[in-house]
Amino acid sequence: MFKISKRSFTQKLVKTALGVAAFSTLTAFADEPFKIGLILPMTGQAASTGKQVEAGVRLYMAQNSGKIAGRNVELIVKDDTGLPDVTKRIAQEMVVNDKVDVLAGFGLTPLALATAPIATQSKTPLVVMAAATSSITLASPYIIRTSFALPQAAVTMGDWAAKNGIKKAVTLVSDYGPGIDAEKFFRERLLLNGGQIMEAMRVPLRNADFAPFLQKVRDLKPEALFVFVPSGQGTQVMKQFAERGLDKTGIKLIGTGDVTDDDLLNGIGDVSLGMVTSHHYSVTHKSAVNQKFVEAFEKANNKMRPNFMAVAGYDGTRVIYEALKATKGKAGGDALLAAMKGQIFESPRGPMFIDAQTRDVVHNMYIRKVEKINGEYFNTEFETIKDVKDPGKTQ
Ligand code: DHB
Repeated sequence: MFKISKRSFTQKLVKTALGVAAFSTLTAFADEPFKIGLILPMTGQAASTGKQVEAGVRLYMAQNSGKIAGRNVELIVKDDTGLPDVTKRIAQEMVVNDKVDVLAGFGLTPLALATAPIATQSKTPLVVMAAATSSITLASPYIIRTSFALPQAAVTMGDWAAKNGIKKAVTLVSDYGPGIDAEKFFRERLLLNGGQIMEAMRVPLRNADFAPFLQKVRDLKPEALFVFVPSGQGTQVMKQFAERGLDKTGIKLIGTGDVTDDDLLNGIGDVSLGMVTSHHYSVTHKSAVNQKFVEAFEKANNKMRPNFMAVAGYDGTRVIYEALKATKGKAGGDALLAAMKGQIFESPRGPMFIDAQTRDVVHNMYIRKVEKINGEYFNTEFETIKDVKDPGKTQ
């Protein structure tokens, strides 16, 4: 009857074996997890940033399928304690040993800057979810930012101050990248509008004591004191402002939203009432997307309030997931990076865009005022400046 020659049978076997081999090559990619290496300060002075960013990342992952384009997404989280050498070493280990597809996190500017060369050398996209000095995105063509750039907030505040009759101001900033950006861009806008900076004060980033500086502010009697300190340090500035009695002098306290951090505001209390700041996110931002985000975040984190760091972690994870979808799971640094550029979507902060040219975030800036609502303290947004690009890069 039907007879199969030995030769053709062998050929068939070989073909089948080749077919299996080819198929397994195809599926090998899909079997490998897609790895995100998240490096954050989980201990030390910037620990609250690490906690918020991680919670934002985990929430996005929990709300979205663990499998993108057939690949499982794996998150590796490491604590850099806020020290640049440690961040860099961890990033190197993650790229070489863990073979991560994306590096993410970066709680402070020096931590992002120290790691930038590793992203460039290994062609690994690096998603900055916290640090905010304007120049960070220039440190590597593989950097994408989902947090914000300090000049966006400082320019907005400078314009608002001038429009609201403030002519003489003192600036008080943390003495490193974002503080220097804040000081420079606030000053520029105030001067442009006919105002004057009476004194520019810089406070050390580590173990900051604001008291002697605030005493000097009291003596100078400006119309306003403009402040930038990184997330987590706002409580101390505000408390010392009140302890020195500056809240009774009529000196208006203004700043970037880092100072009236949503996460800290209830702990700061009455001293913060009425403080006007500029920023890209408030927990009370009025939108359906934000309401859903806040409810889910508080539920997943034992009622912890999300702040702007949590939102940047959440949005950054979205940018990574969508890039992986767009490349159909193939990853590869350059393809992923290309798919991250130009993403446009609605974030809990409002509309958001990753500018393909600068790889930096473009979003609305809001002017907000601290108010007490049902016994809790909030930054209430009352003015919107739409689609603000980093002024640090357009000059
Ligand atoms: C940076 C850190 C912060 O906590 C913040 O609020 C803004 C900027 C930074 O180091 O870049």
